[in-house]
Amino acid sequence: AKKIVLTEDSSLPAAVNIKIRGSVASRGKRVKVSGWVHRLRHQSKLIFITLRDGTGYLQCILADDLTKTYDALTLTVESTITIYGVISPVPEGSHAPDGHELHADYFKVVGKAPGGDETITNIVAKDADPQTKYDNRHLVIRGEQASAVLKVRAGVLRAFRKTYEDLGMLEVTPPCMVQTQVEGGSTLFEFNYYGEKAYLTQSSQLYLETCLPSLGDVFCIQESFRAEKSLTRRHLSEYTHIEAELGFISFDDLLSNLEETICRTIDYALADPLISELIKELNPKFKAPARPFLRMTYADAIEWLKKHDIPNEEGKPHEFGDDIAEAAERKMTDEINLPIFLTKFPVEIKAFYMKKDPEDPRVTESVDCLMPGVGEIVGGSMRMDGMEELLAGYAREGISPDPYYWFTDQRKYGTTPHGGYGLGLERFLAWMCDRYTVRDCSLYPRWTGRCTP
Ligand code: 4AD
Repeated sequence: AKKIVLTEDSSLPAAVNIKIRGSVASRGKRVKVSGWVHRLRHQSKLIFITLRDGTGYLQCILADDLTKTYDALTLTVESTITIYGVISPVPEGSHAPDGHELHADYFKVVGKAPGGDETITNIVAKDADPQTKYDNRHLVIRGEQASAVLKVRAGVLRAFRKTYEDLGMLEVTPPCMVQTQVEGGSTLFEFNYYGEKAYLTQSSQLYLETCLPSLGDVFCIQESFRAEKSLTRRHLSEYTHIEAELGFISFDDLLSNLEETICRTIDYALADPLISELIKELNPKFKAPARPFLRMTYADAIEWLKKHDIPNEEGKPHEFGDDIAEAAERKMTDEINLPIFLTKFPVEIKAFYMKKDPEDPRVTESVDCLMPGVGEIVGGSMRMDGMEELLAGYAREGISPDPYYWFTDQRKYGTTPHGGYGLGLERFLAWMCDRYTVRDCSLYPRWTGRCTP
């Protein structure tokens, strides 16, 4: 058979280069669009291509001689191509992304993807085992759901930054390489820093506290690292930690500020039509939570767990002083099915820096925010602002005060009542996007045994 090779028709108007996100505004004009063949279908002498360029999806139609070239006949999904033509609304009764399609007059293949056994859909098939999927995360993120979560992630980060701007808080970038612990020695990643012992940061909290006197209320969006031994669906070894610190506040102020931050951020995310559409696809039942959030003390939670026969980790009824384990916490949150501010945890089960409740020194001015489906997404507290109690806090935890001299100095040079919190972005997204695990809310998740790709 004669090989058909087509060239661009030079009598046509010059094609304007567009991204798919700009396709609605470019209807009726001759355009060229480059992207990946997301889907491919041959139907009654036509070839239907769903083109993907990261900014959206565009249905393209090849007809007549365009369907007869070698490139058209051997086209595969995930090949990159540039398509030229005019976009117009689809006929009545047909469906396509944005309700329109590109009628091609010319196309060029940029890079072919393999077919047969190596076709992407064979490698990352819907029913592939999870390990295979995570080995091929670089291909999985090309999928509609995985990329939707990553787009929502970007939208949520934008929304947090807008919220902090509204609240007059300044963004800072604390170091990731540190020589102090914040949340206990057992989850520290240690490394050799020019011959000295150093760690990957568990939390930027201590650094944020040092910014209050120079920059006022601050926040950071930074990776935190935890050498978690347990494999759970909500623990990563590296996660994006959104932390904030506020000066001259009370515990009640801290709770209101946290509620305002969460709700305002959700409102901003939902106000973005693209993000709101993606959330609807991922989690059709999602609704912005009602205010005020339910407030429940740790002591009341223990009573609740006892009353509902939810045992502690040893299988016994919960008692004051027990750590509320992940399973019990989730059962309670799912049953109550509302965001909960769980407050006033006992001193013994919380970090060294937390302020004691002036009305009950057995407990701290601490808060966890729990969301249905995920459980804890935020941990926060008021901080000890007195020198003596802080030194006693180090001693209780068996921490040497020496490397903390700069943190201790905050109590020496003009102390202030202050508090803050840390929110795990992947957990927030797992809740918003209804993902089973935080692993699917991270670009390249890390957990025990997984540091690739
Ligand atoms: O409760 P955490 O350990 O609190 C702190 O680190 C405080 N220093 C924060 C602060 O007050 N500035 O962690 C805070 C949040 C948790 O609620 C959870 O959402 C998330 O960080 N987080 C994790 N997310 C994923 N994987 C892990 N291994 C996580 N550990 C904590």
